[in-house]
Amino acid sequence: ARIAVIGGGVNDEHDVSLASAAAVRRAVVELGLDAVPLTIGEDGAWRDEDGGVLPAHGAVEVLAECDLAFPALHGVNGEDGSVAGFLELSGVPYVGSPVRAGALGMDKWITKLIADALGIATARAAVAGPGVAASVATTGLEPPFVIKPATGGSSNGVFVVPDRGGVAETVTLARAFGELVLVEEYVLGREVDIAVFRDRDGELRLGSTLGIGVDPGGVFDRTQKYDGSAEFTVPAPISERDEASIRHAAVLLYETLGCSGVARFDFFVTSAGVVLNEVNTAPGMTEQSQVPRMYAATGLDYVGLIGALLESAER
Ligand code: DAL
Ligand code: MG
Repeated sequence: ARIAVIGGGVNDEHDVSLASAAAVRRAVVELGLDAVPLTIGEDGAWRDEDGGVLPAHGAVEVLAECDLAFPALHGVNGEDGSVAGFLELSGVPYVGSPVRAGALGMDKWITKLIADALGIATARAAVAGPGVAASVATTGLEPPFVIKPATGGSSNGVFVVPDRGGVAETVTLARAFGELVLVEEYVLGREVDIAVFRDRDGELRLGSTLGIGVDPGGVFDRTQKYDGSAEFTVPAPISERDEASIRHAAVLLYETLGCSGVARFDFFVTSAGVVLNEVNTAPGMTEQSQVPRMYAATGLDYVGLIGALLESAER
């Protein structure tokens, strides 16, 4: 079978996506399948295996010759449902979430509203859109604040602000990463992530929980995410009760958003229980990324995981 592995993308996670796509391609080859690379350049042009820019409709033609697509695209124009929509219209089966789940999960504000409706706790927050003064947005919220673009990824544009004084200026900085900015109350706790995917038999398969070592008062920032300095503990050292809350919330969100393929759900475990941070419908997929580490701990190695994801798209 021929598998189109799509990487790159027009956003600030382009390089991260290239790394995910390269790892997926290696696994596809190890599975004895043909990997057909397709890369979306930072200029938006689609490129083939040799880096040649494809003519208009060229990507559709390449995809039409493949049995399945595996988008390894993070962030806006990739993870947000746009590529899923493109593949739907092109009639190519693909691994991962459909338009709806991608679009809902990409938006941290919408995710929060859905989590609220499901009874899953999230940080108290407000939207500071272009038309809303930061001082108005933060009325009723208590510092310190985390300020972030609503549709960001890889911690790009995420800032911690100790008091109200820094909010307006920081909202402006965050807006460079996306028009809609969230101001959240800082949640003091340990970050714990979990992954879910529905296999080809329709069974939900959860990875092990994974705890991330970050200094209290800090954030799991872009540098720690990709320089290998973050300390992961698998499974996360948390109580059975917190573990059960995380598993329950992750499954509920996976189903409610309508996810497919693998999604990663990121939480904070606090002294008062579990708080959802955000969801990732196209999580990082290098061998060192959280999701593969979570499944490795359950006995499913990287190549096995990619194989199971490919099979899940054939159902
Ligand atoms: N946004 C990055 C790729 C992640 O969530 O893993
Ligand atoms: Mg994310």
